[in-house]
Amino acid sequence: MTSYSLRSASPAKTRAEAVVVGVLAGPKGPQLAPGAEDIADVFGRRLRPLLSTLGVKGKPGEVTRIPAGEKVATSLLVLVGLGSTEATPDAVRRAAGVAARSVPNAASVAIALPAHTPELLRAVTEGYRLGGYTFTDYRAAGEDTSPSDVVILSEGARRQEMVAAFESGQVLADAVALCRDWVNIPPGDLTPPAFADKVSAAVAATALPEGVPAIGVTVHDEAALADLGCGGILGVGAGSAAPPRLVELTYTHPDAVRHIALVGKGITFDSGGLTIKPGGSMSTMKSDMGGAGAVVAATLAAARLGLPVTISTFVPMAENMVSGAATRPGDVLRIYGGTTVEVSNTDAEGRLVLADALVRATEVGPDAIIDVATLTGHMVMALGDRVTGVMGSPEIVEAILSAAEQAGEESWPMPIPDPIAERVRSSKIADLAQHDWIRWGGGLFAAAFLREFTADLSWAHLDIAGPSFNSGGSNGHLTPGGTGVGVGTLVDYLRAQSA
Ligand code: BES
Ligand code: MN
Ligand code: ZN
Repeated sequence: MTSYSLRSASPAKTRAEAVVVGVLAGPKGPQLAPGAEDIADVFGRRLRPLLSTLGVKGKPGEVTRIPAGEKVATSLLVLVGLGSTEATPDAVRRAAGVAARSVPNAASVAIALPAHTPELLRAVTEGYRLGGYTFTDYRAAGEDTSPSDVVILSEGARRQEMVAAFESGQVLADAVALCRDWVNIPPGDLTPPAFADKVSAAVAATALPEGVPAIGVTVHDEAALADLGCGGILGVGAGSAAPPRLVELTYTHPDAVRHIALVGKGITFDSGGLTIKPGGSMSTMKSDMGGAGAVVAATLAAARLGLPVTISTFVPMAENMVSGAATRPGDVLRIYGGTTVEVSNTDAEGRLVLADALVRATEVGPDAIIDVATLTGHMVMALGDRVTGVMGSPEIVEAILSAAEQAGEESWPMPIPDPIAERVRSSKIADLAQHDWIRWGGGLFAAAFLREFTADLSWAHLDIAGPSFNSGGSNGHLTPGGTGVGVGTLVDYLRAQSA
């Protein structure tokens, strides 16, 4: 276990086994970043030629380790490139993530990256914690080489706003790590009942600030879902040996003014159902509950932070499988509240489970509904694997985009064109068509379909199919597997709603 602390000490005098400093790619060549001033002073005029000899450029991902010399309290200096001419929160978050993987065997580490504003300090805290994230539950127990002490150095360490930024960075990192863990668990071990149990356990384990009432949890099992008439969730789950669930959380702060409903897609594995996916597309489909993980983790983070807001969170969980009991193309499902949907492609299952949950969400009378879902491959085609597509009511989309920017999660607005939205009503036998075989703009059709269930309330839909899972290697604060994308955006959005 690593303990994290915040201090205002100088990096040159800090007695840690390793001290991390940033390198900016300055206009006149590489230079040490803010936070490392007294280290730069110790080296004086020798620094520039030394960096040049080492080939240090300040590029992103660049790491250089040098002995610190007699005049510095640490023995090892770790120089990480910021990849920019300026110390921005995004650059610092990435560099801190790289730093976390660059001190493999140090017992104590001090971080002297730029951290002189609350935004930068938060980025250092989050980036370091997330870049060092590992998922080892399924490996033989090895030696724990993570440092026992990590000290983040910031000249403002004693100011209340800096302490708050440091603490909220820790809470956010915990929440993102929780979401990553859930995404990374093999799908056979995270069936809907198992996932619902884990959510309940995580709620119970969340320590809340004084004066904040306990988070309410309700788990609807398959019998309760049948009583409610949640035909979308039941229809999608019908082919699985593991029954579906709908988990509902409520967090109410006594000073809340705004009420936000969150909805997250919780498909614990997506085989495509009878409209089965090709093997290659199926191999990462344990990540199809990334939206569910994000909304739950964000709810818990908001509660831990004691944000003055009310949150109602709805998490439909089902496994989309193939069996004699599976829903067929051509079947008609009755969504909670009565709307009927003609299923034509069982691989467009996310919108069906979300439909039930969205209608449930409208019933609590929220000021806004935000759904987060690994919904369409079309969004991955459009925006790639790092960017979230955001659709819905213009004012909420705006608020989400600005929260995403603060959180360092890249997002982009997408339209819901009327001609596409009209095709949602093209079924010849049911109220709505779940899918149409025109492939173009499938992510927008999906959003139009969801909108039908929002009762014209303010709503935004985040399609995280691309950024929710990292199939490549580590990159900045991103690690392989689940990314926890969406958690940061939601927490910053909820924070803005609390103001
Ligand atoms: N879970 C997938 C979407 C997805 C694709 C997530 C790639 C992550 C990476 C979703 O349920 C799905 O299968 N969508 C279909 C929609 C289509 C049938 C309209 C798709 O993307 O092909
Ligand atoms: Mn699917
Ligand atoms: Zn899916």
